[in-house]
Order: sequence, then C-alpha cells, then structure tokens
Amino acid sequence: MMPMTNGLSLEELMKEGTYPEEYAEGENWKILHGDTLKLVKAFQPGIFDAVITDPPYASGGTKQNERNRTTNQKYSSMSAANALPDFDGDNKDQRSWTHWMAEWLYDVRKACKKGAPICLFIDWRQYPSITDALQWAGWIWRGTAVWDKGNSRPQKGRFRQQAEYIVWGSNGPMPINRPVSCLPGVFRYGNPQNRIHVTEKPLQLMKDVIQICEPGGLILDPFAGAGTTVLAAVMTGYRAVGIEVTDSYYKLGSDRVRIALEAEQKEDEK
Ligand SMILES: C[S@@+](CC[C@H](N)C(=O)[O-])C[C@H]1O[C@@H](n2cnc3c(N)ncnc32)[C@H](O)[C@@H]1O
Repeated sequence: MMPMTNGLSLEELMKEGTYPEEYAEGENWKILHGDTLKLVKAFQPGIFDAVITDPPYASGGTKQNERNRTTNQKYSSMSAANALPDFDGDNKDQRSWTHWMAEWLYDVRKACKKGAPICLFIDWRQYPSITDALQWAGWIWRGTAVWDKGNSRPQKGRFRQQAEYIVWGSNGPMPINRPVSCLPGVFRYGNPQNRIHVTEKPLQLMKDVIQICEPGGLILDPFAGAGTTVLAAVMTGYRAVGIEVTDSYYKLGSDRVRIALEAEQKEDEK
C-alpha cells in the first residue's frame, strides 16, 4: 500500500493499537472496514474539519415488522434478479436507533475541530429523532436543507414524499468568517442511474453539500456505502476518510473510489 501524507496516515488519524483490521486508500482518501461505533472512539481528538454522512435510517415503515424488512425490500424497486447487496444496521427500533445515533455522534464530535460542520441525511420519519440525537451528543443544530429528488410514488389525496433532508449543525460556535460562500437550502437531483448501492446518493449532490467544509479540509463519512462522499470530496480538492461495516459495500465502495479517481487522473494527463 502507498504511504499516506496530508494527515491521513493511520498513526495521525487513530490512537495506537486501535487500527482497523482492513482499509483501502489512495492519495487524499481512506476507507476503513469496520463498525463506526467502535472506530470513531479510536480517532485522535480534533482532527476532522467536517462530518458529512448518510447513516442507515432504520426507517421504511411505521411498524416494527415493516422496519425489520431487508434494505432492498424497504428502499429499492429493483427486481430480485437485479437486487443490490443489502446493508447492515437498518433494523433498530426507534428507541435504540436514537440512542445509537447519539452515541456515535457524541464520540465523533470529539474527533472534530471546534466549529466543524456536520450534515446528516435523513427521511421525514426519522427527522424528529435525528435532531434529538444530534443535540444530545452536544452538537448545535443549525438548520435543515432539502434534497428534492424530483419524483416519487404519487399518493392520492396526500403530498408526495419526494424529499429527503440534510440536518446540519456545528461543533460549538461556527465563525461567520470561514472561507465558505453562501450555500443553497434546496438541492434538486434525481436518484443516480446505474447505482451500485441500495441508497446511493447522487455524486453531484454530495459535491454540493460538502462545500460546507472549508476548502481542502479533512471530511469524515462514518457510513460510506458506495463511497460517494469520499469520491465527491477528493474530486473537489478535499481529503476524506470513510468507514463502512458491510463487507460487500466496503469492497464495492473502495473499488469505485479507486477506479474513478484513477480514470480522472488519466483524463487529466491526456
Ligand atoms: C444509507 S447507506 C450510505 C450510502 C452512501 N451515502 C452512498 O452514497 O453510497 C448507510 C451505510 O452505512 C453502513 N453502516 C451501517 N451500520 C454501520 C456501522 N455501524 N458502521 C459503519 N457502517 C455502517 C451500511 O452498510 C450502509 O452501506
């Protein structure tokens, strides 16, 4: 493996003796294979400039038996023959999901610099709980941006559920003079075509959202999935660390990031 620079060596990132068993890396990025609940406790204090993430929503219904379905059953309309791998961590009930969220959010805050922004994707069902968890963990909740997906299943006599939300905040006061411009409050992008993850976010959406971080900053995505945040970050001049627990997505995401960045580099060299 290539030696890392820019604060991305394991020694610079993590406390001694807490390294993950497996990780993938390239210039300015790393994806760690493991459980966020354990790994975020292992980071050195005050190293990240932002947390941008899309946690498992543990949603997909109002009753527990609906939430206990697989992630494909809950979040995908693909036929069984074309189904993507299911992912872990999405079957918690309301109380345990909120507690779990608060726990990793508490630990991840210690790994962030003062004033660091945080962005959390969520749907309407988990919106009240995620804003509770964020604040219990000591973050300041500062607002909510909207991801307008454009279309969704029409519901007679009801509003379409065509949006997801980006709950955002900061680790204490957030200076107004950070070198970050005014950002939009609504992002309009359809779901990605040809996705490799059941709940993959559009790459351009993530490129837009991470602009909340100071230029060149070190971004953490503790639920990396197909690596969309990590890829968007490195493509736009940031450095990024992802964590992913599901074996298949650790592999798919790391390979995707590596292949896309190599292709981009080859284009630049032409
Ligand atoms: C909603 S998906 C993220 C999708 C991602 N934004 C993308 O565009 O591909 C959440 C991911 O978190 C992972 N995950 C769930 N529990 C985890 C845990 N405890 N530690 C690390 N990753 C976890 C799942 O395997 C899943 O891939």
